[in-house]
Amino acid sequence: MTAIVTRNPLADGADWPAGPSELADFHHRMPAYAPTMLFDAPGLAERFGVGRVVVKAETKRMGLPSFKILGASWATYQAICEHIGREPEPWTNINELAANLAFLKPFKLATATDGNHGRAVSFMARLLGFECHIFVPSGMVHARINAMEREGSTVTVVDGDYDDAVARAGEEASDTCLIVSDTSWPGYETIPAQVVEGYATIFCEVDDALDASGMARPDLVVIPMGVGAFMAAAVTHYRSGAERPIIVGVEPIDANCVQASALAGEMTHVGGPHRSIMVGLNCGLPSMTAWPRLRSGIDWLVATDDDSARQGMRDLADIAVAAGETGAACLAGFDALMSDAVAKAELPDLSDSTILLVVTEGATDPGAFEEIVGRRPESVGRVLTAVS
Ligand SMILES: Cc1ncc(COP(=O)(O)O)c(C=O)c1O
Repeated sequence: MTAIVTRNPLADGADWPAGPSELADFHHRMPAYAPTMLFDAPGLAERFGVGRVVVKAETKRMGLPSFKILGASWATYQAICEHIGREPEPWTNINELAANLAFLKPFKLATATDGNHGRAVSFMARLLGFECHIFVPSGMVHARINAMEREGSTVTVVDGDYDDAVARAGEEASDTCLIVSDTSWPGYETIPAQVVEGYATIFCEVDDALDASGMARPDLVVIPMGVGAFMAAAVTHYRSGAERPIIVGVEPIDANCVQASALAGEMTHVGGPHRSIMVGLNCGLPSMTAWPRLRSGIDWLVATDDDSARQGMRDLADIAVAAGETGAACLAGFDALMSDAVAKAELPDLSDSTILLVVTEGATDPGAFEEIVGRRPESVGRVLTAVS
């Protein structure tokens, strides 16, 4: 395993304001909304010598194989409200919302993606009866492109990397096309901030599940990072309440833009090619919107390699979680943190602590999953010990 483990020299533990209170009600009105499973992994706790490891499995969220729909749905809704200058007529479910917004048609959503965010935006567009145009970097596997096309989206492969796809998607903005991007650039900051807001539901669900079973809130949380929008949601949640867990961010070793930025003291571009199998994390630049929270709230930064992601997938499959490559990054990163001599010496004693790993993605490329894990994703067993 090759890894770079560093403290965040910019961490200041500052408070951040909590997210919007209407979020839970909004997500409850989305189709097939239900909290995802949080479950106990006693084998992992024993392996790492910690009190408890809980795994939040975002392998199936509203029928999609990642958490991204939480941010995409909320940001799309907020962007539409802003576009029409008001809330839509009252609605209780997505069909009513689609009917109330039909007057906008023909109408389009667009974004760049390295997979999951684009699929989530495609899903929202289909539910609302809108068109959708998705821009992807070259080299994206067909399974991910097909998934977006099956939602009815037009997918354009951009000759370049994720950052080039972001630039191309931005050109689509018009009176009849909303860009719903999870990363930001100068002048485009509101919608990415709303994507971040939408992710908060995950952490509220974790609190609810732990509280319901009388278990302690986490002492250390491990979050994968691409542009850092998801991490920004973690920082908002865990730096706005009474509990202040240690926050650990994980990136691929050749796309460690948050780590490089923290060490440089300012947002820093990490050049490509970004070819990690943790494709959702192949980003060269942190999101501008996320950066203030990233620099302030993250305690430890871990850059890890593809072999550890593969091992993470196998280890998670052993505890009944069929995680994709990106989904396994949190376990790979936690393993690297606990194997690092400096981190071990500087971290507090974790032997009674609760560790939260967020597995952000299911097996989005079933062929690759089978090759790496040695069995098909659907053969991976069910949850062994449910927390709630
Ligand atoms: C499955 C998965 N996990 C984590 C991330 C990282 O999220 P962010 O780019 O907000 O850091 C992504 C981003 O695409 C993703 O698809």
